[in-house]
Amino acid sequence: VSEAAAESLRVPAILERKRDGHSLTRAEIDFLIAGYTTGDVPDYQMAAFAMAVNFSGMSDEETTDLTRAMLHSGSILDLSDLPGPKADKHSTGGVGDKTSLILAPLAAACGVTVPMISGRALAHSGGTLDKLESIPGFRVGLGLDEFRSTLRAHKLCFIGQTVEIAPADKKLYALRDVTATVPVLPLIVASIMGKKLAEGIDALILDVKTGDGAFMQREEDAVTLATRMVAIGKGMGKRVAAVITDMNEPTGRGIGNSLEVEEAISTLRGQGPKDLTDLSVELAAWMLVLTAVQPSLEAARTKIRGAIATGAGLELFRRVIEAQGGDPRVCDDVSRLPHASGRHEIRAESTGFLHRVGCRAAGEASMILGAGRNTVADKVDPSVGIELGRKVGDAVETGDLLATLHYNDRSRLDAALARLKGAFDITAAPVPARALVRRVIE
Ligand code: URA
Repeated sequence: VSEAAAESLRVPAILERKRDGHSLTRAEIDFLIAGYTTGDVPDYQMAAFAMAVNFSGMSDEETTDLTRAMLHSGSILDLSDLPGPKADKHSTGGVGDKTSLILAPLAAACGVTVPMISGRALAHSGGTLDKLESIPGFRVGLGLDEFRSTLRAHKLCFIGQTVEIAPADKKLYALRDVTATVPVLPLIVASIMGKKLAEGIDALILDVKTGDGAFMQREEDAVTLATRMVAIGKGMGKRVAAVITDMNEPTGRGIGNSLEVEEAISTLRGQGPKDLTDLSVELAAWMLVLTAVQPSLEAARTKIRGAIATGAGLELFRRVIEAQGGDPRVCDDVSRLPHASGRHEIRAESTGFLHRVGCRAAGEASMILGAGRNTVADKVDPSVGIELGRKVGDAVETGDLLATLHYNDRSRLDAALARLKGAFDITAAPVPARALVRRVIE
């Protein structure tokens, strides 16, 4: 290694170059991510890197290099010994988005193996792992042997990143959450694709959110994000598509960990809100089509709706909960999930139609109540959150219930209510319906 090359592989020099808007080489990116994975590069340098990427961006080539580095920070699973096609879904982060808990058992019940590696709450958005852990006893930290045996037995297993799978993302994800570096396009691409490509899947459907509650608020940014992720996935030989979906309103009615599990169970029972049911069915249908288990989206949707109607999805979820150490009786009796001690209602102050529910505000208010973290070491409170009494477009009368806040700590309730000020708009005119799926990127 020449002296100049050795100099460029010092972390402060790499940070300086990114700060000043230069492109990093593959060797620099590999060096940084490998060092961060082993602990040689400390959190403070990685936090500075994330913030430098926020301001300076990354080229497509750097983004691909970063994704590869994240992917190779751990091992890549080989699930070829498991029979049948394997597919997964990943979202870029939403509010009240509990679709993973619904579509994974539905897709598995329809013949796809789903090795799902998920994340925790991130900024104002919820995380599948935190939601699942609100089920008493549920373990997301399984070793790879148990992951494989659960997949073999049930076609579905939910885990988090481990020391084996995308460990760099496990650390960087937690760091970004508390350093205001979540809505950074190259970091989102590398985070999502780095862990998803490690899963040993054949196909992946990406749910790229746009709107007030999304990290990419503008639709054109969501399209750019989706296009990058699809290109990287295809470049690595996977069948990948992305749907751009609306995140101007929380998905379904529940926001917060146990409230979302409760709603996922009722949706698997066929009693879920329409937007949540439709989105879960759509994404699960894509998993069936991308793996060629069904010939068309139409046929796949019918199949998935069938798995709701027969209860096959709920039954599969119950078995996976049990296999992962959780209490499967929550599927029949949601009172077994943790519940907060206090309730506070927000009621409509006028009559008309619900025009807007501040989606980001609702996500942040739920985090303030304790559903998310302020520091890496914080523990989430599984029982707190918000339950919406009305959805956008609904007719409302003065005094109608707009939302119930579930809280354990009075001062957090006050802060959450302050965040929700002005979050509900009621107008005299009816509200035109908005399409849930805006675009598809293949
Ligand atoms: N989901 C992820 O896994 N990573 C991100 O950066 C955003 C959403």
